[in-house]
Amino acid sequence: MNILVIGSGGREHVFTERLHKSPKCDKLFVAPGNAGTSTIAENIDLKPTDFEGIANFCQSEKIDMVIVGPEAPLVEGIADYFNAKEELKDIHVVGPSKAGAELEGSKDFSKAFMQRHSIPTAAYATFTKDQLDEGLKYLRSIIGPYVLKADGLAAGKGVIICETLEQAEKSLIEMLKDAKFGDASSKVVIEEFLKGIELSVFVLTDGENYKILPEAKDYKRIGEGDTGLNTGGMGAISPVHFANKSFMDKVESKIIKPTIDGLAKEQIDYKGFIFIGLMNVGGEPYVIEYNVRMGDPETQVVLPRVTSDLVPLFESLKSKSLNKQKLVVEDNIAATVVLVAGGYPEAYKKGNSISGLKASDNYTIYQAGTARQDGKIVTAGGRVLAITGKGSHLQEALNKAYEGANSVCWDDIYYRKDIGQDLLALS
Ligand SMILES: Nc1ncnc2c1ncn2[C@@H]1O[C@H](COP(=O)(O)OP(=O)(O)O)[C@@H](O)[C@H]1O
Ligand SMILES: [Mg+2]
Repeated sequence: MNILVIGSGGREHVFTERLHKSPKCDKLFVAPGNAGTSTIAENIDLKPTDFEGIANFCQSEKIDMVIVGPEAPLVEGIADYFNAKEELKDIHVVGPSKAGAELEGSKDFSKAFMQRHSIPTAAYATFTKDQLDEGLKYLRSIIGPYVLKADGLAAGKGVIICETLEQAEKSLIEMLKDAKFGDASSKVVIEEFLKGIELSVFVLTDGENYKILPEAKDYKRIGEGDTGLNTGGMGAISPVHFANKSFMDKVESKIIKPTIDGLAKEQIDYKGFIFIGLMNVGGEPYVIEYNVRMGDPETQVVLPRVTSDLVPLFESLKSKSLNKQKLVVEDNIAATVVLVAGGYPEAYKKGNSISGLKASDNYTIYQAGTARQDGKIVTAGGRVLAITGKGSHLQEALNKAYEGANSVCWDDIYYRKDIGQDLLALS
């Protein structure tokens, strides 16, 4: 089977590595990929949202399956694009339809979906540009902290949490009236603040059946002790100790099952991953958001713990026979540390030469913002590498991941030294 992976991050390097090892995989391509994926597959210079280019490539290379990593092509309808064309519809796209991708593409849609299916989530109200006065009135009627969310995709920057009413009012005006996030904030969801510990749960579904993948915790802020600006993610750990059987049983019965059943009832075609961002509020799970793909860097700790071949799992989505597949998860702990270019998530330099990219039995290096230049591998993005270690306990996994982090180098390398420390303190 010939497979195309879409995307260029660490998440896609993990997918590519796993597909490369599958006995069922013949030719393997990544669009556009990075220096890491180019060593095990062929990188194709195509943008993830260039559907026509991707479709032409798939036809000329006889691609059987397309794995979509990032959200943008899904929200723009890549699965529908393939399904609508006679010559493309046999190519199996792993990723939901445009209607399914609305779970991530519109916070208002996802809140209404949860409400329709009685899925626990924070109370909310949505306001459009024309309803600014009602929105301000609503803010004055609730107590803080105030959670304001741009409805559309905003690259992880569209959520503002305000301590005071004054800040919240100012932010709402900026979002609705001054289009702070462009079109994405032409609608704003105002939510009740949930106090608890966050956790991410991952599900693979064919739209009727599902498999629960290992859960993970990620670290979003640039600075140690969760301080400073938000990033795409600076590290992740899987599993998370408070996600014990009784908690996960609640997650399955109150959230996962109603989500899959809700999609089926609403006849939303969904063949792919669902990432459920959860808040554990005193032992009860509440949904913070859905994403319609795997997370990055969560994939770098979730998939290394899954030992099953991914190809038959993905293939079974097409025939809605995921229930006949087995998903085997290792009983160990994985930790990943993300190494970034100095200055990220603000301005940073590209083109620094990376040394120490050697394979080791103790850790795996996944590449993200890297490129080949004059025979060398250089930095080409903010998040450059993610290094994953595994162990029978968290400290061992962390030691291995940090052994890897300490062995690679470039001019302005930065990474957090405290990934997993909060979980170590709690366990
Ligand atoms: N209702 C809420 N109560 C408390 N914190 C929240 C709430 N909603 C979101 N957050 C915080 O804001 C972060 C971003 O919100 P999220 O809905 O995941 O948006 P996105 O990932 O699209 O930026 C969450 O990871 C969480 O830390
Ligand atoms: Mg989120």
